[in-house]
Amino acid sequence: MSKQFDVIVIGGGPGGYIGAIRAAQLGFNVACIDEWKNAAGGPAPGGTCTNVGCIPSKALLQSSEHFEHANKHFAEHGISTGKVTMDVAKMVGRKDAVVKQNNDGILYLFKKNKVSFFHGRGSFVKAVPPGEGGTSGSTGGYEIKVTGAAEETLVGKQVIVATGSNARALPGVAFDEENILSNDGALRIGAVPKKLGVIGSGVIGLEMGSVWRRLGADVTVLEGLPTFLGAVDEQIAKEAKKAFDKQGLKIELGVKIGEIKNSKKGVSVAYTNAKGEAVALDVDKLIVSIGRVPNTIGLNAEAVGLQLDERGAIVVDGDCKTNLPGVWAVGDVVRGPMLAHKAEEEGVAVAERIAGQHGHVNFNTIPWVIYTSPEIAWVGRTEQQLKEQGVKYKAGTFPFLANGRARALGDTTGMVKFLADAATDEILGVHIVGPMASELIAEAVVAMEFKASAEDIARICHAHPSLSEATKEAALAVDKRTLNF
Ligand code: FAD
Ligand code: NAI
Repeated sequence: MSKQFDVIVIGGGPGGYIGAIRAAQLGFNVACIDEWKNAAGGPAPGGTCTNVGCIPSKALLQSSEHFEHANKHFAEHGISTGKVTMDVAKMVGRKDAVVKQNNDGILYLFKKNKVSFFHGRGSFVKAVPPGEGGTSGSTGGYEIKVTGAAEETLVGKQVIVATGSNARALPGVAFDEENILSNDGALRIGAVPKKLGVIGSGVIGLEMGSVWRRLGADVTVLEGLPTFLGAVDEQIAKEAKKAFDKQGLKIELGVKIGEIKNSKKGVSVAYTNAKGEAVALDVDKLIVSIGRVPNTIGLNAEAVGLQLDERGAIVVDGDCKTNLPGVWAVGDVVRGPMLAHKAEEEGVAVAERIAGQHGHVNFNTIPWVIYTSPEIAWVGRTEQQLKEQGVKYKAGTFPFLANGRARALGDTTGMVKFLADAATDEILGVHIVGPMASELIAEAVVAMEFKASAEDIARICHAHPSLSEATKEAALAVDKRTLNF
């Protein structure tokens, strides 16, 4: 007999598990189905983000940053350590433990919020018309089959699809996760490769390239586009590129990737560089990070006629409604930025809409962070976008070099940049490259949500000494009245 639910969530990543918890908080009887398995075959909810994305990458970034600090920066604080070595297996083991804490945390949250968790693959079977199917009293919905350790049939009045995304492979170059690595393999390399190649200088390429460079690999990043970080404010991207060049992260722009040969000895990448010259790059490992594709494998979307677009993403409207009544989709499997916090916001908003509330996601204030060193973070529009759109704006920047806390930290790379409307002073974008940009950007997000002006931030008292004073000073710079620069 089928089990009845008000809401069935397929996928337990940030979009799915957060949506399930919010729906349960709103009084619904909720099931969440997730198929991710840990090494022992047990449940590992949290999706890409927890298992092979946000969390493990930040764990490795932290470990490798400690290593780099111990090697290169402790001495200037008067600390001598002798030879610093890295036990890669231990670092990866710590990362796995951090992942497990997060998996277990989600299982605990499901229990706490009375979300019924099913470990296995969820697939659409059929739409259930009102009054039919399931147990008596069914008001219709969708029949979902769970295939896993135990097979189950569930019926849900509402279904939220949150099946995420997978790494995109180069045509004809499959990931073997030994030599040719997706994000998955890149997070569990067993020993520091002498030479590491990365295709794609996007977010994963820069973060994972940084990890292995800090640990001693000779890293070459090959990027197809002629511009570095095209979506980032040009001035900020230029500053970041300068820092990466100085660190020895080799980034080649405007390349055209040719044949890739994989053998026991390593990987050989043939490419044409920006000058049109043929180059061969031999590396021990190759990370391919050229974007991600929406994942609907195993969902059996055809059974119910769930509409997908030409990229394979589930088609949704601004409210995350699909073409089917009572079926919603959130996160990486739909349009919009592939970010965990965007997925979470959509999950919450959909649960609230199901409850008849006015769930809302403001796409204009979704922050982006690249967790390299220096960190890069931004919210709102870039200077080049404002120019393209013909918006009249004022810009203000403040360098960390002139910030007392940054000097005390020994990390003065980068700047904070404000863009404000020329007439109203409303903040249109904030862009940061430098220490703790990931944390500093939160103030800008709040300010933009409240439609603050640059002057509002400039008039707010910021703790001294703190990096946040650079934010205040950049806001002052919009009106050309910085105090410390
Ligand atoms: P996912 O997290 O992909 O979760 C989908 C889940 O659904 C998975 O567990 C999958 O197994 C399950 N599933 C799929 N199909 C089925 C089915 N039929 N039945 C049952 N279960 C199914 N974003 C950030 O915001 N910050 C970061 O720092 C960041 N770092 C990243 C680093 C890397 C290396 C990568 C790859 C991504 C990173 N991201 C980051 C992006 C982030 O991971 C995704 O945007 C986010 O995980 C999307 O959430 P989701 O819930 O849509 O999908
Ligand atoms: P990406 O979209 O960030 O970058 C891909 C890069 O590869 C682009 O610069 C693109 O021009 C380049 N590229 C594409 N095809 C190419 C080719 N054939 N040859 C050479 N270059 C090519 O994608 P990435 O890094 O794979 O990450 C996927 C997504 O995961 C990100 O867009 C982001 O949404 C998410 N993510 C977020 C993180 C964060 O928030 N800190 C961290 C890591 C990933």
